Amino acid sequence: RAKVAVLISGKGTNMAALLYASRQAGAAYEIVLVASNDPEAEGLRLAEAEGLATFALSHRGMARADHDAAMDRAVREAGAEYIALAGYMRILGTDFVSRWEGRMLNIHPSLLPKYPGLDTHARAIEAGDTHAGASVHLVTDDLDMGEVLGRAEVAILPGDTPETLAERVKLAEHQLYPRVLSEYAARPFDPDWLIARVRERAMALPEAE
Ligand code: GAR
Repeated sequence: RAKVAVLISGKGTNMAALLYASRQAGAAYEIVLVASNDPEAEGLRLAEAEGLATFALSHRGMARADHDAAMDRAVREAGAEYIALAGYMRILGTDFVSRWEGRMLNIHPSLLPKYPGLDTHARAIEAGDTHAGASVHLVTDDLDMGEVLGRAEVAILPGDTPETLAERVKLAEHQLYPRVLSEYAARPFDPDWLIARVRERAMALPEAE
């Protein structure tokens, strides 16, 4: 089974959904670490109670690169092959993102490419959209803009507030994320993808004399 580290900053309901799905027979992945930039994150307490390894390091007073490096170390030491961001509210730097390229997923509470960034539900309601939802995507340097691997739509009801809508979208997130992560972790090896990445890297190198 693929080994996954889940990064959280808050309640961790998506982490819980990923965990409980991973305990079903035939699951394609297992969670080897739950890590957070907030030692008080509610999800950490649940992860501990569920017997998962946890790692917490506040980002306060730390340079982004140093915090990212500490997270990276913890994730590698846990033996993770994939990272699932689940309400991780820190932007990760280029170094971290490129190290985990193609192996780091995020769940975002909108139907991407609509509404990257924050306050997604308020923006969808404000715009008069009939549907909101959530997307699971690969993480790239372009915030919330990596390849979308799966989406779940949720109707917006008259009288919905960002809070009532967020609650229903989370129900959809909890179904979506484990399915997409399982499919992604179990996908067949794609040599073309690897060749394309190696080419990109080579082109980014300075010209040899
Ligand atoms: C989820 O709704 C997730 O889509 C969102 O944070 C919530 C975390 O909830 N993520 C983002 O906004 C990322 N920018 P949880 O801690 O209960 O899983």
